[in-house]
Amino acid sequence: MELYPSMMCADFGNLANEVHALDAAGVDAFHCDIMDGVFVPNVTMGTNDIRAIKAATEKPVDAHLMIIDPLSKLDLFIDAGADIIYIHPEAGNFAAKALLAIRAAGRKAGLAVNPETPVSAVEDLLPLVDYLMVMTVSPGFAGQAFLDFTLPKIARFAELKQRFGYTLVIDGACSPERISQLTELGADAFVLGTSALFGKGDYAQSLARLRERQLIAA
Ligand code: DX5
Ligand code: ZN
Repeated sequence: MELYPSMMCADFGNLANEVHALDAAGVDAFHCDIMDGVFVPNVTMGTNDIRAIKAATEKPVDAHLMIIDPLSKLDLFIDAGADIIYIHPEAGNFAAKALLAIRAAGRKAGLAVNPETPVSAVEDLLPLVDYLMVMTVSPGFAGQAFLDFTLPKIARFAELKQRFGYTLVIDGACSPERISQLTELGADAFVLGTSALFGKGDYAQSLARLRERQLIAA
């Protein structure tokens, strides 16, 4: 089970210390939500934040591009050092080209799929994908409610994972209970925001509890 803190929820007045604390607490990678205010109705992090997080850890840092026409902006995030770059197929007409360009740059290609987007809309792209991320909230804001109608889609992507070998990531309202349920369903990794990590006390204790639950359930 991989756990990725959603850095938009971190204390930006104390970012490097937050990264150090999360790193020491045992996170597997850092999740950076990049939003343009057009594809989603919010603006959060940018390339300077990715650079600052990269400078404070040896662990992978991802960029979740919730932006229109991600292909045209890829170089910004490659230059900023993002190790995994997620694009949305709903954000432009060149998803295949963007995924191939990410891999050509030596980074891992991620596909983030909105709650309403069916499996059939992206199945042909799966050979180009290293990380498949299912949005279980409407992207843009932390602290929302989990969208239960995404559960069958998660189960289907878990089946397809056997054929294509991607890591199945869940992003949105991942509480400890949800994480147990979704691990059962076949999810491999979770973006942790306000539902399981931030505002929940000591980071190391929260992560240890999540991992203990996983061990007991296994
Ligand atoms: C949603 C964000 C996530 C996540 C935050 O757009 O990508 O960061 O929802 O975690 P929660 O939902 O637990 O606050
Ligand atoms: Zn995200």
